[in-house]
Amino acid sequence: MQNIALSTYIQVAMMTSPKRLRKAVFPVGGLGTRFLPATKSLPKEMLPVASKPLIQYAFEEAVAAGIEEFIFITGRNKNAISNHFDHSYELQNVLTEKEKADELFITRGWLPDAGHIAFVRQQEPLGLGHAVWCARNFIGEEPFAVLLADEMMLVKGGFLKQMAENYHQHGGNHIAVADVAREHTSRYGIIDPETDDGGLIKIRGMVEKPKPENAPSTLSITGRYILQPEIFSYLEQGKRGSGNEIQLTDAMAQMLGSSPFYGVRCNGRRFDCGSQLGFLEANIAYALEQESMREQVREMLKKYSEY
Ligand code: G1P
Repeated sequence: MQNIALSTYIQVAMMTSPKRLRKAVFPVGGLGTRFLPATKSLPKEMLPVASKPLIQYAFEEAVAAGIEEFIFITGRNKNAISNHFDHSYELQNVLTEKEKADELFITRGWLPDAGHIAFVRQQEPLGLGHAVWCARNFIGEEPFAVLLADEMMLVKGGFLKQMAENYHQHGGNHIAVADVAREHTSRYGIIDPETDDGGLIKIRGMVEKPKPENAPSTLSITGRYILQPEIFSYLEQGKRGSGNEIQLTDAMAQMLGSSPFYGVRCNGRRFDCGSQLGFLEANIAYALEQESMREQVREMLKKYSEY
């Protein structure tokens, strides 16, 4: 009898609790025009903060959140990214011969197991919404995360992990948000909050890159999302929005009526590494976090503060 009660309980719990988050999409097909000429042949996601490329920070944040399947949406000139997630036998052999265990570990110790990583070519640069749509056959009927690697989050334990915990508690869709200056709203997707009491923000609208006078708030969408697979039926329509691109924000705005969306404020530090200043700041902030570099970087900053 007890067993029947337990199995009924498990069945009900499975019906009501949100599906586990296991998959993540990394749109990495962008041109990186704000970083030319570096990005002429180097993908912007391979720019390093200290010695690690931006894409590896995003990947490790996903791993910390329990993600098991990694789908990269790439474009032409992005082979350096797939090479980074593969073995480098020549280098590994030399490091093995020289018994450089630490260097060997940072070269290959973090690689995902075979079969857990996929690269999909976005054949045309039609926007973030189109890039995410390219992942549809790999996502199927599951919730999934989207991580934009040029947004770097310095959050203890990883920001996506916090978002995933919220998601597993409340279900629905979750978007990372951060306050920006009103004059900068036209650089981001901006949400219209229904409630904002310091916890999860209930979202009632969102708009991609509004002019300051039209922005519903100053809360910008930053580069972390947890979405339900229904988003693909909106992206499927291929509607063009801001910049004549297929915008993820527009598809999410359409979906709002049928599925709840929540905003999550980043409680750590967030850097827009797609801009040169944001990238520089991320490098300084990261270096200051490292005990091995902290004092020297402080001295360096003092030296240049006279300029
Ligand atoms: C994209 C999104 C935008 C978001 C931004 C965050 O814009 O479309 O809603 O605020 O990322 O970085 P992009 O930077 O690709 O123009």
